Amino acid sequence: CGIVGYVGQQEAAPILLDGLRRLEYRGYDSAGIAVCGDGQLRVKKSRGRLQVLSDLTHDGADLPGHLGIGHTRWATHGEPNDINAHPHVSQSGRIAVVHNGIIENYAELKEQLLHKGYGFRSETDTEVVAQLLDYYYADCGDIFEAMIRMLHAVDGAYALGIICADYPDRLLCARKDAPLLLGFGEGENMIASDVTAIIRHTRDIAYLDDGELAILSAKGIRVYDSQMRPIEKEHRHVDWDVAAAEKGGYEHFMLKEIHEQPRAIREATAARIQGGQVVLRDLNMTDQQIRDINKIFIVACGSSYHVGMVGKYNLERMLRRSVEVCLASEFRYSDPIVGKGDLVIVISQSGETLDTMAALREAKRRGAHILSIVNVVGSSIARESHTVLYTWAGPEIAVATTKAYSTQMAVLNLLGLYFSQVMGTLDHEVYSAMVRGIEKLPEQMERILEQAEHIHDIAKRCAGREDVFFIGRNLDYALSLEGSLKLKEISYIHSEAYASGELKHGTISLIEDGTLVIALGTYTPLFDKAMSNVVEVQARGAQVLALTTESHAGEMGKRVPMLMTIPDTEEMLLPQLGVVPLQLLSYYIALERGCDIDKPRNLAKSVTVE
Ligand code: G6P
Repeated sequence: CGIVGYVGQQEAAPILLDGLRRLEYRGYDSAGIAVCGDGQLRVKKSRGRLQVLSDLTHDGADLPGHLGIGHTRWATHGEPNDINAHPHVSQSGRIAVVHNGIIENYAELKEQLLHKGYGFRSETDTEVVAQLLDYYYADCGDIFEAMIRMLHAVDGAYALGIICADYPDRLLCARKDAPLLLGFGEGENMIASDVTAIIRHTRDIAYLDDGELAILSAKGIRVYDSQMRPIEKEHRHVDWDVAAAEKGGYEHFMLKEIHEQPRAIREATAARIQGGQVVLRDLNMTDQQIRDINKIFIVACGSSYHVGMVGKYNLERMLRRSVEVCLASEFRYSDPIVGKGDLVIVISQSGETLDTMAALREAKRRGAHILSIVNVVGSSIARESHTVLYTWAGPEIAVATTKAYSTQMAVLNLLGLYFSQVMGTLDHEVYSAMVRGIEKLPEQMERILEQAEHIHDIAKRCAGREDVFFIGRNLDYALSLEGSLKLKEISYIHSEAYASGELKHGTISLIEDGTLVIALGTYTPLFDKAMSNVVEVQARGAQVLALTTESHAGEMGKRVPMLMTIPDTEEMLLPQLGVVPLQLLSYYIALERGCDIDKPRNLAKSVTVE
């Protein structure tokens, strides 16, 4: 979900609506704003896209005032509807609240408030916060004091924005386990869950840490730690330009971000390669610590987990150590056998995924060294890690990840190469060839992107399918997991990825006349096996679309009429190139099916709930 808040001299509502528009990708089943003006609190909210809210408020003109909060919601408690949308207003009608996260003890607090005569309109945990504030405010007559008491009463995760009609020049906020940042402007100040919401107004920001709260006025921001001691926050200057966060001529953010990959890979890798050597200045580990690494885990969710699957093959090969890849949501509850001397590599684009965060904390508590690969600078996962390697991919707006996936993989490969040097586990020639290969990736990706029209033609032929199977072996299997996820998440086609060797153990019974099988045959050492699996499914009537390298295109082309190719590269780098045609394929199939590509149904970019 997304939060934005404003206090200053301008009309708040249009600024809030604009900020929410930029946050919409974080959740979009409903949206709302609350504004204080003329001693009144006015609230408008509605189900559906932000445009509905804009229309409803005449682009904000119906809510005059210089102080306000806004929210886009992705339902966690209670179905998406007008009532459950934020902001939530207290019984007195004087206090409004927006909230990301979950108040875990809300049922118990609600019960207590019901006994005190409070009525509830929504099914949300957030309304409890509003009513609790009301209750304490009635008692002490000071909204800041009421907020402190409320924060003591609630358990759970929150980023909160609070306004009160009796304080038309004060915006209150607090954070615990959900992202929230402060924006410092000229005669105006802001809060937001994500920097994209406010960079049109200020680039001077500070991230709140867990347990901190702040009071904003037009003139300044006062920040307090959890003990209520005033603190100074370090300001950061954000240099992402606004255009980088907008579509820049492409029809969708996803297509723009697919095309940004050559640049993103260059950004992620160029400064980390010097004179043919991998140099990781941001790595916070001594050579001795690296040599002493006991076990290696990779922990992540979704596409970041799929990067981990590729990473397992590559790190094991480079380091000759076993690597365990874990879904973060499983890891945390598995009583993991992890501790001092172990390395836990945490991968996350947003740096805010709650499941991943919880796994990180569990591993950290047990003494492991936490190395995270993260895109969003200053995000929670980055801040709680011992070492952070940023992916430097720039803001990723489309829900379906593309450039973050590619850069995570690039950074993981660099990390493997760096470790292999310290551990002395990789043949020097392979090492050098890998480094040269990484340097060539951007240019090779450009060449793949030139095939976009060809891939669009293939997509037109595939768009009518309702079931698709991806098959591959080794790195092609790891890649097929991401290819399949990309397709299903944006086109809503049922799709599954199988290790080709497993086909005969069950899945092959699903193959019938005309079934579409997307066969990945880029992994050179197993190309012959990939070919025989193609023949195997064709014998059952499957229609095959194959992905292979230029050097194998001739042979594959003899059997398969629909073909996508990638330039040849080092074996371990094949998925870096192979993912690009698969992203384009999914994109164009979803386009042909008329799907809402940047905002697929039921998904959110950053999932900060369990
Ligand atoms: C969500 C997104 C996925 C993403 C996953 C992990 O489910 O929809 O696209 O892969 O979270 O996100 P992270 O930000 O931790 O990489």
